[in-house]
Amino acid sequence: MKLTKVKGLQGELSIPGDKSISHRAVMFGALSKGTTHIRNFLSGADCLATIDCFRKMGVEIKQDGTDVTVCGNGLHGLKKPNTILDVGNSGTTTRLISGILAGQDFETVLSGDASLNKRPMGRIMKPLQMMGADIESANGDGCAPLKINGKMLKAIHYDSPVASAQVKSCVLLAGLYADGQTSVTEPALSRNHTELMLRAFGVDVKSSGKTATVTPPQEMHACDITVPGDISSATFFIVAGLITPNSCIRLKNVGINPTRDGILRVCKDMGADITMENVEDHGGEPTADLIVRTSKLKGTVVGGDVIPTLIDEIPAIALLAAFAEGETIIKDAQELRVKESDRIALTVDNLVKMGVDAQGTEDGMIICGGNPLHGASIHCKYDHRIAMTFSIAGINAGGETVIEDSECVDVSYPTFYEQLEQLRL
Ligand code: S3P
Repeated sequence: MKLTKVKGLQGELSIPGDKSISHRAVMFGALSKGTTHIRNFLSGADCLATIDCFRKMGVEIKQDGTDVTVCGNGLHGLKKPNTILDVGNSGTTTRLISGILAGQDFETVLSGDASLNKRPMGRIMKPLQMMGADIESANGDGCAPLKINGKMLKAIHYDSPVASAQVKSCVLLAGLYADGQTSVTEPALSRNHTELMLRAFGVDVKSSGKTATVTPPQEMHACDITVPGDISSATFFIVAGLITPNSCIRLKNVGINPTRDGILRVCKDMGADITMENVEDHGGEPTADLIVRTSKLKGTVVGGDVIPTLIDEIPAIALLAAFAEGETIIKDAQELRVKESDRIALTVDNLVKMGVDAQGTEDGMIICGGNPLHGASIHCKYDHRIAMTFSIAGINAGGETVIEDSECVDVSYPTFYEQLEQLRL
């Protein structure tokens, strides 16, 4: 993909469905009795991998664009797949499904692409093993392929060393198959979509501060889910609207769950002009239209408990910082090193290539805003969020920016380039 400077961005967009919520809707629908209808499902490669895994375990799932129907087999109705389960690039599929598979009465093998098979799985293997699960890394390196031999599990309380919704969800889902109440306490509250949606499917889940507790149900019951627009996808257009001259963009129906809205808090700190309209609630998941206008920004410090609420937005925040006056410090974000790529290294390298004064630290980065950006050839190591961040940089840089592997945006946002084109003046 080649990009050059635009004169401005104007218009409105409907942001595609939330990736985290789309995964969970398919998974929980598959484990429920009855038919679950999902509207505004994200038809990106990651969520399609989740559909594929459950189809391989005997669940009937029909997809018509963004409408998905899951004919659930009940909590104990999954069947042993004939082949390995291919999780593609999706960490969420891998870690959440492992919790479910640990409690089945059959054996499975999970494997993904080159990036996925390098990501740390010890963080879920440890609590699952504490529950008595039989899970091992086939190559002994703590990564996928994972071999899981399902069995009845023991309830535990897990003090998680990381604020990770994938770890929390994995343990809570294994807890559906345990012999008592299972709880997870995290160092900072991560996204709570699992807790909210399990409740909608009839499961007793309690949340108290940083602890979530699940009581294993007899059955889960189908329900209809309307997926809010993904704030992590909206972020690229929020940043684009703020840094591109002559811009005013309305982003419709964006999920603003407080465990996900850190990007809005940081934008506000930096002086951004963002207003909210049409605030609605969808089963505990609030949504709003966001109106974003070109803004004069100033640097800030991003760290502490806000980090899990904006973890996927940090590459885009780093770009915002490049257009702000003064210094921005991002800290406490060491988790970025084990995402789809090492996002600290890749964000800083690509920013520097474009002329930004940026440097990486162990747990974040320091960016001094104000340098004009020039086009560059961007390597994104097949990381969708790096590709989209630097596409937005490209429309604000002199000369031409080339995004290598730009097709990786399909992982979470297949219509990204079309929607960007719609807004261009
Ligand atoms: C996700 C949790 C986060 C996030 C990922 C989606 C989820 O990962 O980065 O894109 O759906 O639970 P971690 O749990 O590793 O922080």
